[in-house]
Amino acid sequence: MHSWNEWFKTKYNALDTLKLRIARDKYHSRFFIHDNINYLNFISNDYLGIAKHENLVDALKSGVDQHGVGSTGAPNLSGLSVEHETLSAQLASWLGFESCLLFNTGFQLNSSIFSQLTDENTIVWFDRRCHASHIDGIRLSQVKFYSFSDNTLNNVFKRINALPEKRHIILTEGTFSMDGTCLYLDKLLKFKSENPNNVLLIVDDAHGIGTLGSNGYGTLEQLGLPLSGIDILIGTLGKAIATFGGFVCSKYNIIDYLKQTARGVIFSTNIPPAIASSSIASVALVATDTGTKLRYTLTQNINYFLELCSQYNLPVYNNTLNISPIQLLIFDNEDTTTHIFNELRTKHIRVGKISYPTVKKNAPRIRISLTAANTRADIETLCEALAKAITC
Ligand SMILES: Cc1ncc(COP(=O)(O)O)c(C=O)c1O
Repeated sequence: MHSWNEWFKTKYNALDTLKLRIARDKYHSRFFIHDNINYLNFISNDYLGIAKHENLVDALKSGVDQHGVGSTGAPNLSGLSVEHETLSAQLASWLGFESCLLFNTGFQLNSSIFSQLTDENTIVWFDRRCHASHIDGIRLSQVKFYSFSDNTLNNVFKRINALPEKRHIILTEGTFSMDGTCLYLDKLLKFKSENPNNVLLIVDDAHGIGTLGSNGYGTLEQLGLPLSGIDILIGTLGKAIATFGGFVCSKYNIIDYLKQTARGVIFSTNIPPAIASSSIASVALVATDTGTKLRYTLTQNINYFLELCSQYNLPVYNNTLNISPIQLLIFDNEDTTTHIFNELRTKHIRVGKISYPTVKKNAPRIRISLTAANTRADIETLCEALAKAITC
């Protein structure tokens, strides 16, 4: 038997690629500041560029004055404040759902809810590009599950129709973090409307909520689809809302049930109340005129980026709808992505380099997160540098 030392050594040496971790000195939405160098920031989830907005910062400070730093407990004990309740109600009302429940993070939410929503008569069908937290949560629930791709969706519908005695969950994302827009949401909504009783349709729109749609309702709104066509909407406060936490919206009975049973809620210290205060201020911005203006700027940035990609002939992954702030350049080998990443770094531009096991081995990619804080000049600099790096 190997000692722990040998075991860790073997595990470490077997890693294909080491994930880069660079700590920033301080935050600026347009720049990633490291060692006093301003790198153009194309790796942020702060899609609207508001993480340092004075309304959020002021609300956080007064929240700390009022409640201290920590929440002091789980929500069923001492950890629930009026601010948490206000934030949940605000999110539900903004997104048009009856009720909403907060979790410490989107990850914790996804790891927690499937155990509560499933039993031996349930089958979960999920898009194979779904986030790691979905996969962990589904596995943890010990439910029977199958993954699908957009090409096999019709087969999923047939198999569900052949199993009417089961209850089915279909899970997907609005905007995949490593792949961009989900292209078949309309088909899911139609299938759900034809099977209202034994299908529960769940959409995690962590990247779309606040970012897409004229009201910020997310990918569904952007695609002209009603949020009322799904059963459960999952979101995070950590991206466009630019604070911290996860939330799930649905009908009263489902949310009340999760409130009482989801282990990630009842066995975990709640989000600090000051973060809830700051999130209230953020949602107030994101859901109103400021949000609309920032989403307009972001859309302009996405369009400009795509225009330059076609001008420079960049191999941007074209998922035909092209509405996503997440844009990808997919290559067939790790050396190319490493070369591009390093070239851009020397030009003080930060993009994401995504490797196996996050994505398939033969499809490493450069991931570009566009935000409302990028300027047109930044996008020009990025595309020019990408074009040069790809050809040299
Ligand atoms: C689709 C999706 N769901 C959930 C999460 C996790 O959210 P959080 O960062 O709040 O844990 C992410 C994070 O990237 C995500 O992409």
